[in-house]
Amino acid sequence: MIPGRSAPVQRTSRVRVWWLTGRMLARDGPAPTRDGPATSRDGPAPTRGWRPTSRRGRSTLLAMVTSNPALARLGGYPLAAFQDLATTLRADGRPLHDFSIGDPDEPTPRFIREALLDAVGPVSRYPTAAGQPALRAAVAGWMARRHGVTVDPGEHVLPSAGSKEAIFHLPLAVLDPHGPRRNVLWGEPGYPVYGRGALFAGGASDPVMLTPEAGWRLSLADLPADRLQRACIAWVNHPHNPTGSTADLGWYREQVAVAREHDLLLASDECYQEIWFDTPPPSVLEACDGDLTGVLAFVSLSKRSGMTGYRSGAIVGDPELIRRLRQLRPNVGTAAPDFVQAAAIAAWGDQDHVDQRRAVFAAKRAVVLEHLHAMGIEVSGSDATFYVWFRAPGGDDAAYAEALLRERIVASPGRAFGPGGTGWLRLALVPTVDGCRAAMASWRDALDAGRLPV
Ligand SMILES: Cc1ncc(COP(=O)(O)O)c(C=O)c1O
Repeated sequence: MIPGRSAPVQRTSRVRVWWLTGRMLARDGPAPTRDGPATSRDGPAPTRGWRPTSRRGRSTLLAMVTSNPALARLGGYPLAAFQDLATTLRADGRPLHDFSIGDPDEPTPRFIREALLDAVGPVSRYPTAAGQPALRAAVAGWMARRHGVTVDPGEHVLPSAGSKEAIFHLPLAVLDPHGPRRNVLWGEPGYPVYGRGALFAGGASDPVMLTPEAGWRLSLADLPADRLQRACIAWVNHPHNPTGSTADLGWYREQVAVAREHDLLLASDECYQEIWFDTPPPSVLEACDGDLTGVLAFVSLSKRSGMTGYRSGAIVGDPELIRRLRQLRPNVGTAAPDFVQAAAIAAWGDQDHVDQRRAVFAAKRAVVLEHLHAMGIEVSGSDATFYVWFRAPGGDDAAYAEALLRERIVASPGRAFGPGGTGWLRLALVPTVDGCRAAMASWRDALDAGRLPV
């Protein structure tokens, strides 16, 4: 127990962290392997669980409404639990160093906010799923400037309401739930939406375990051919959440080649593309040498321009796949409002604010890395993104997250991103530079006082 703290407070936080990690893992069966397909993890949900009953103990009408088994077996969204936890902890009014959710404190640049406000007209109209031509052109312009890739705004670009919904909905356009290729490959630890989109589309999530030895990068070439041929989509994500690992052009070329050999759609989640520190990360589209067949890049303004709340991104790539998505997406109702599109046009057209944001993240990262190194904590990946990924001192990420929580520092245990993250933790560089300094000082004090495992 922490000296000077009462037992009930400590019990509450322990139960809370146990509950969080337990909920996160509720979906997980055996850990994924480099060559084993998803099996029981994607089977129907067990039917145990809460059932609404009337006062007399009879089932209410609600119990007769069927439930999507995918929904029943998932439990809550893992990172939402952290948001709830931070809100609960903040309620007592004491300072909280919240490094949990990838939603930094820096304001959205003024010119972007003004572009949105200027575009709010007196008459409201439905936006179209295809988006405004000017927005598609702005995305294409950025792609040419940033990545040297020429795309046709009409054929190769489709706006999205942030990349999350686009990632989730992709399988609805390409996955045949009754066909032989219903799996979706993705690296774990990773962003859970790749697998969840597969499940809700009637397919199966097939996570591939990532390792520090392999630089937290999956290699399609290392997977057995039958596993590749049971999949319709392979997701890659660099710079990577949660590890911050990056990939070079040679790696992308290899993934494109293997995906094409096995008729897989290679989908590249590039929402952290602009948050780098040494070398600008390439896009998968650079590795296509002008032939975008079977390849899509998912880009976003959330991290690039501090626009998480605006919900604006784009899908760029293979014209046939874009055509299918253009057919699907009007059914989904995810078209971004026209005033958000106006703000997005302004944001894609400017690079200065991106460079300024990157400098802020670099300053925060320097503070955090210096302290972790000084405390003898092993950092892995963390080459780009605003995440720092470190090995749990003592080996248990949930226990270390709990210990940090008692110091009012919120970090995400790696297992929240899948079993492959067990033993690691993620810090999202959310607080300001001064906030990062204050948190690191508290961390150091706790370590010196023997309140944290070493
Ligand atoms: C890897 C990854 N992909 C996609 C997203 C979704 O971002 P958005 O929908 O804000 O573009 C996130 C958000 O944190 C993420 O970490």
